Amino acid sequence: MRGRLLDDTGTAKLGGLNLTDEELLRFDNIVLTACGTSWHSALIGGMMLEDLARIPTKVEYASEFRYRNPVVTDRTLCIVISQSGETADTLAAMREAKHRGARTLGIVNVVGSTIARESDGGSYIHAGPEIGVASTKAFSSQVTALLLFTLKLARLRALSPVRGREIVDALHALPGQVQNVLDRAEEIEALAEEFKRASNFLYLGRGYNFPTALEGALKLKEISYIHAEGYPAAEMKHGPIALIDEMMPVVFIAPHDSVFEKVVSNVQEVKARKGKVIAITSRSEPSLEGLIDYEFRIPETLDLVTPILASVPLQLLAYYIAVKRGSNVDQPRNLAKSVTVE
Ligand code: AGP
Repeated sequence: MRGRLLDDTGTAKLGGLNLTDEELLRFDNIVLTACGTSWHSALIGGMMLEDLARIPTKVEYASEFRYRNPVVTDRTLCIVISQSGETADTLAAMREAKHRGARTLGIVNVVGSTIARESDGGSYIHAGPEIGVASTKAFSSQVTALLLFTLKLARLRALSPVRGREIVDALHALPGQVQNVLDRAEEIEALAEEFKRASNFLYLGRGYNFPTALEGALKLKEISYIHAEGYPAAEMKHGPIALIDEMMPVVFIAPHDSVFEKVVSNVQEVKARKGKVIAITSRSEPSLEGLIDYEFRIPETLDLVTPILASVPLQLLAYYIAVKRGSNVDQPRNLAKSVTVE
C-alpha cells in the first residue's frame, strides 16, 4: 500500500496499469481469472468491484475459462491474479482473453514473471518472496491490491469521496490490526491442540467471507492433510448439514458485518446438531452466547476488509495443526509452489 493511498481524495494511485482514467471508464464488464488461493482472492475482488464500482463482474477458474467459450469483448477488462506469475492455466486463460480482444491486467507478486510480462499492464503486490508452498501473505496482499484497484475505479465511477476516505482509513489501520492478530497467535495454537486429531472440518461464511471460508479450508487441507470444505453458510441446509455431529469442528467466519445475524442462525443450526463451533468474531456478541465453543476475535473493520484480517487466524490454525501433526508445512506432499503444467 506504501505510496498508493491518496488520503485527500479518498482513492488509490496505481502505476503500471498502462490505462488512462478515460480508458478505464470504457470497460463495461470485468472478468477475474486465477487458480487456487488466487481464485479465492479473485472472488473477493469480484464482490468488491460490483459492490463499489457497480460494474458487471465474473470470476472464473482459469482452467475452466481457457476451454469454455466465454463472452469476451473489446470492452472486457480481464484481471489475472497469480502469485508466481507462471501458473500454466492462468497464463493460458490470459492469452485466450487477449486473443478474444480483452484488455488484461496482472495482479502478480513475482517481478518479471511471464504473466507480468505478457499482460497489457498490472500491479505488483510487493509481498516479497513467498517461500512456503501454501499462499499466505500473497493472499492478503492480493486482496489488498484488488481493493486498491477497486477503490481507484469506483472513485472514477460512482463512489463518493466520503466512502473513499473511509476505505483509505481502514487500509491505513490494517497493518497494525494484522499485527494485533499475530501477537495473539498462542490463542490459535491452543485451538490447534484441541482439534489436531479431527479428520474433517467445515468452514462457513457469508458475503465477503464466503471466499474466506474457502481459503481457510484450503489452507488446512494442503498443509495438514485433514479434509476440509468451505461453504456459503446458508448452503449448509442443502446437504452438508448431514455431516454435522459432535466430531465435526465447524469454523464460522462471523465478524459483525451486514450478514452477521444470518450467520448467527447458521451457528444455531450447527449447535442444535452438536457440532463443535469455532467462531472468528469481531466483538462480543450476546446472540452468540452459549452457541460457540471457541472464539477468536479480530479487530473491527469495514466488511470488505474483514477477509484480510479473518484469513490470518485461519492461516495460523492450519499452520499449528500441521506442525502438531508432523506435516512438512513448507513443502506439503504432492504440491508445487507454482503449477507450471496443466
Ligand atoms: C495456495 O496455497 C496454493 N499454493 C495454490 O492454490 C496457489 O494459490 C495456486 O496454485 C495459484 O498459484 P499462483 O497464485 O502462483 O498462480
